[in-house]
This record gives sequence, structure tokens and C-alpha cells, in this order.
Amino acid sequence: MKMRSKTFLFLLISAVFFFSETTFAENNEEEKAVEGLVMNYYKDTCPQAEDIIKEQVKLLYKRHKNTAFSWLRNIFHDCAVESCDASLLLDSTRRMMSEKEMDRSFGLRNFRYLDTIKEAIERECPGVVSCADILVISARDGVVQLGGPHIPLKTGRRDGRRSRAEILEQYLPDHNESMSTVLEKFKSIGIDAKGVVALLGAHSVGRTHCTKIVHRLYPEVDPALNPDHVPHILKKCYDPIPDPKSVQYVRNDRGTPMIFDNNYYRNILDSKGLLIVDHQLTTDKRTRPYVVKMAKNQDYFFKEFSRALTILSENNPLTGTKGEIRRECSVVNKLH
Ligand code: HEM
Ligand SMILES: *[C@@H]1O[C@H](CO)[C@@H](O)[C@H](O)[C@H]1NC(C)=O
Repeated sequence: MKMRSKTFLFLLISAVFFFSETTFAENNEEEKAVEGLVMNYYKDTCPQAEDIIKEQVKLLYKRHKNTAFSWLRNIFHDCAVESCDASLLLDSTRRMMSEKEMDRSFGLRNFRYLDTIKEAIERECPGVVSCADILVISARDGVVQLGGPHIPLKTGRRDGRRSRAEILEQYLPDHNESMSTVLEKFKSIGIDAKGVVALLGAHSVGRTHCTKIVHRLYPEVDPALNPDHVPHILKKCYDPIPDPKSVQYVRNDRGTPMIFDNNYYRNILDSKGLLIVDHQLTTDKRTRPYVVKMAKNQDYFFKEFSRALTILSENNPLTGTKGEIRRECSVVNKLH
């Protein structure tokens, strides 16, 4: 009898435990479905959304190849600063300084073509698709145009209502930052050393303005730079103090400047990285092994890039009823 009641008690407790565990798990799932990002979030409300973005990215790429570089850089500058909420896209107002105007944002371009994508979406599904999702999906599709991997990404982000300019430097490393600081900043958003190495592979395309390089050229040339590469850079950056209004720049990857590939890693191993952070990836113990591996194996680079970009794109989104769906990406909606 004693034994039996003990067994009964045990079963009862287990049952209660089991039951509460399952309902807890179910609640969690439900909450995720309502609150979180999901694949193809717009399948009922705007089924053609992702196709429209892809089409626009392709059309724009045909006319202006560098738009694809911009979409790729945007995802870093928006998502790494606390949240993928399209705060990057907001213009300055009387009360608020735009992120775009900060020094870290130097060289960001093509915002008016992001508006072109938004307008194409608004014509089909007004007020449904967020600028934050357009920013993320256009980056994904831009990578494909440049010859990189196709990365499945979730949607359902909503747009923030304020600029994050005042905290931007906390999250976006400078071009000459120490590797420890760079790794720390990325770690705070869940990206490890391998992920950092993979993400910086984005510098396989696009350009760097001389303002970010001249301190490695004047008064004397940084001995860490490959002497074979120096004459080319000096020719492009002939002014020790470049006129910020003139467009003096060097292409990030002289070999295949328009292609998203692992040539970046061979360049930096060859001391042809333009930024201090690029070069430091090859000298720091924590990052060098990944650089070597990615230089050798493009599939490995693509796989790790996809993993890290996914984490970046899911950084702390506004979902559910938070934020809003902006009508125009550069201004918050008027509240009535
Ligand atoms: C330590 C982190 C990083 C630093 C310090 C950094 C810094 C810079 C700088 C200074 C430029 C040159 C801008 C100019 O002069 O026009 C640049 C360009 C670029 N960056 Fe980064 N970056 C970092 C990480 C990333 C990441 C994670 C991505 C994307 C995943 C990215 C994508 C790009 C692209 C595509 C360009 C070329 C833009 C163009 O040609 O318009 N960067 N970056
Ligand atoms: C990095 O470069 C900026 C100029 O772009 C300069 O103001 C700053 O002092 C430099 N920082 C370090 C640590 O060298």
C-alpha cells in the first residue's frame, strides 16, 4: 500500500510536470509565430513582395552595378546598431540627427534607389512591407547579383521611429580599430571570430575613399602594406589630405572588384588589405586560421558568410505591434 501510493504520487508528479512542460513549449511556439521573424512573412498579405524586391534589385544592378554594394553595406550599418529597424534610412530632422550623417557612415550611397524598391512594393501592397525587410532582402539579393550565395532569410521586421546616431559608434567599429575591440563589438550581437572573418569578406567588392587610407600613406607608407600595391594606391590617393568633396577612392579588390568571392582573403594575406581592420585579420591569432581557410575554400567562405549574415539580419528586430510600417523609408509616419 505504502509502495503503491508512492508510485502513484510519482506518476502524478510526472504527469503534472509533463503536462506543464508541453503547454509551456506550445505557448512558446505560438508566441514565436506571432512575435518573431518567419520565412515568407508576407505570404498572405503581399505574396509577391520578395519577388518584387528581387526584380528591382536586378533591374537596378543592370543600370548601376554599385547599388548591390550599397545593399550589402546597409545590412551591416542598420542591423549591427542595436536592431534591424531601418533606422539607418531616416533623414535628419530638426530634432534628430541622421545615422547617415555620422563619420562611420562615410561613403554610404544609393539611398534614392532603395526608395525606388519601396515605391515598387507600395504600388502593389501599400502599407504592408517594412523598410527594414526591404533593406535586409535587398542585401540578400544583391549578394546573388554579385555572384555570391543565395541566403534564405526570414521577414517580419518592423520599422523604428528614431535614429540611433548617438549610439552608432558603440556598435560600428572604426576602420583602424584594434581586433579586440572589433571582436568584442560583434560578440555583443552574437557573432564570433569566424563570423567576423566571414562578414568582412564583403570587402571583396566596392571601394574605400582615400580619407580612410591616407594615414597609412603619409607622412610615410605603412611597412605592413605590400610594396607592389603601394604605387597604385598612391596614384589614387595623391593628396595627403583628400578634399572630402572630391571622390578619391581605391577599389577594395583590384583583382575582381565587382565579384563577391574569396579573393579578399588572398588579398589580405598578400598584405593588400586597404583598411587596418582588414590587415589585422591576418595578423591576429584569433582570426588568421579562418582567413587561411576561407582563402583556400570558397564554399567554406560562403557557408560561414551565410551563417553570420543570418545572425546579423535577425539582430533584435521590432516585431508584432512594435514600431510601424513606414510609408516612406526616409521619414517616420505622421501620427494622427
Ligand atoms: C570591422 C568592421 C567594418 C569596418 C571597420 C568597415 C569599414 C568600411 C569602410 C571604411 C569602408 C569604405 C567606405 C567608403 O570609403 O566609401 C567600407 C566599405 C564597405 N563595407 Fe565595410 N566595414 C566593416 C564591416 C563590414 C561588413 C560586416 C559588411 C557587410 C556584411 C561591410 C560591407 C562593406 C561594403 C559592401 C563596402 C563597399 C561599399 C561601396 O563601395 O559603396 N563592411 N567598410
Ligand atoms: C582612427 O582614425 C581616425 C580618423 O579616421 C582618427 O581620428 C583616430 O584617432 C584613429 N584612431 C586610432 C586608434 O588610431
